[in-house]
Amino acid sequence: MKFFVDTADVAAIAELNDLGMVDGVTTNPSLIMKSGRDILEVTKEICDMVSGPVSAEVVATEADDMIAEGRKLAKIADNITIKVPLTWDGLKACKVLSEEGNMLNVTLCFSANQALLAAKAGATFISPFIGRLDDINIDGMDLIADIRTIYDNYDFRTEILAASIRSVNHMTQAALIGADVATAPPNVIKQMANHVLTDKGLDAFMKDWAKTGQKIL
Ligand code: E4P
Repeated sequence: MKFFVDTADVAAIAELNDLGMVDGVTTNPSLIMKSGRDILEVTKEICDMVSGPVSAEVVATEADDMIAEGRKLAKIADNITIKVPLTWDGLKACKVLSEEGNMLNVTLCFSANQALLAAKAGATFISPFIGRLDDINIDGMDLIADIRTIYDNYDFRTEILAASIRSVNHMTQAALIGADVATAPPNVIKQMANHVLTDKGLDAFMKDWAKTGQKIL
């Protein structure tokens, strides 16, 4: 499973990128707002740092305007993925922009039917939002599993990009189901290294080591 980082925080991306944990980046208007940066500037900075796909989201709601915004965003760098919402207009924009050779990430997906439409419209990535479904007591992982089955049934090339990931359990489940990509906030990716038994075991080793009076360096 590829790891995308779900943030526009350049320092946080750099830390994970240096460890080889970053296969791509996703941003959205809320994350740009949170960064306090200009969208074109911060996106360019991220694209220069990361070699994989970097999603930049359009904010227009009409297809023609989305297409114009998408074309402008695509000029930022070769690794830009244009992100469009899963609306009828978004699908129209997806079709046109993908036929022009761009990578497209269709976002705000909450149903298998929406995912089917995105694949038909030429999406490179479909972004089902797990956490936001969990928020309304619907198991977001069921959606990932349904899309996996449907895409495999028909050999759709669109990659499943599990989004709105809120916990390390989401990462495990997405990987078990076979999501192609998971995009997660930096803190979730870092939390994947944690285990209470690792901490406990290390503590015991350190205490015993101190009793030996030895040093390695
Ligand atoms: C990523 O592409 C999405 O925009 C993001 O994962 C949404 O996450 P949220 O539901 O935690 O805001």
